[in-house]
Amino acid sequence: MAYSFQKTLKTTAEAVNQRLDQIMSTEAGEGEVVRPAKLVAAMRHGLLNGGKRLRPFLVIQSAALFGIDQSRSLQAACALECLHSYSLVHDDLPQMDDDDLRRGQPTVHRAFDEATAILAGDALLTLAFDLITDPKCHDDSGVRCELASLLARASGMGGMIGGQMLDLAAETQTPDEAGIRMMQQMKTGALIRFACTAGAVLGQASDSERARLAHFGETIGLAFQLADDLLDVTSNAETMGKAVGKDAGRGKATLIGLLGVNEVRRLLSEAVTEASDCLSEFGAKADILQQTAQFIVERRS
Ligand code: IPE
Ligand code: IPE
Ligand code: MG
Ligand code: MG
Ligand code: MG
Repeated sequence: MAYSFQKTLKTTAEAVNQRLDQIMSTEAGEGEVVRPAKLVAAMRHGLLNGGKRLRPFLVIQSAALFGIDQSRSLQAACALECLHSYSLVHDDLPQMDDDDLRRGQPTVHRAFDEATAILAGDALLTLAFDLITDPKCHDDSGVRCELASLLARASGMGGMIGGQMLDLAAETQTPDEAGIRMMQQMKTGALIRFACTAGAVLGQASDSERARLAHFGETIGLAFQLADDLLDVTSNAETMGKAVGKDAGRGKATLIGLLGVNEVRRLLSEAVTEASDCLSEFGAKADILQQTAQFIVERRS
């Protein structure tokens, strides 16, 4: 992967981390009473300890395609990272995937306790909607409202949470290939699709431009989970910052289990071509997004 891409990803992650750090202060904001120190500490643990910040990067790069500066897209980008981090805190709970390691640290329920992890997740989810509806997100309240609505649909019962439900159900009733794809499209794809669409919404892009970004997001979203499942069997905990071999261990339904490693590798390279086609009309302006698709399938962690 080109050095300059890695550098851009890192610089963006630093800007996201800095903003999230400011947002997650212990001082109560307007309309709040107090922020309990333990809750804030648990939220900070789940939000600020590492993470590739890929979803914020996609928001920022998609928005840049329509001339929106990072200083304007950072708010929506941070909102999405709060939502994603909440999904990880809850995904790791003993009643879900029962994981002890996340982003190279003990999971939130390990570092604190289960009840605190549930509340920290709830508060990160709520914070995401606070951030995305804040005027800092966009001057036009219609744009903010649309983003909030899209985020709710992407993360709710017919999106990420629905996908997590299907993921749990698949531990006992093995779905077919189409069933696994649908589960992945929901549990992981929906937030990544949102990231790319959000850039087009912030940039008040045309319907056709928006559709292209949504298709791009859908394609790389599926690929992202496929790559995660592949890394679960091919990588190690030190590189990943989370346990590996978990999927087979818990009887998770994945395309690796159904089709094998080589076929999944082939599907991943097919996905990069499909993703690239979605962006062809944007020309060189979309180079970074093109490289992001490549990064998603080639990533090591
Ligand atoms: C992990 O997401 C969970 C999945 C949806 C597969 P990431 O691989 O983006 O995790 P972080 O945010 O970098 O820790
Ligand atoms: C996570 O999928 C999807 C979420 C919505 C959080 P996984 O359960 O495979 O993610 P990891 O491997 O624990 O990060
Ligand atoms: Mg899971
Ligand atoms: Mg998990
Ligand atoms: Mg996984």
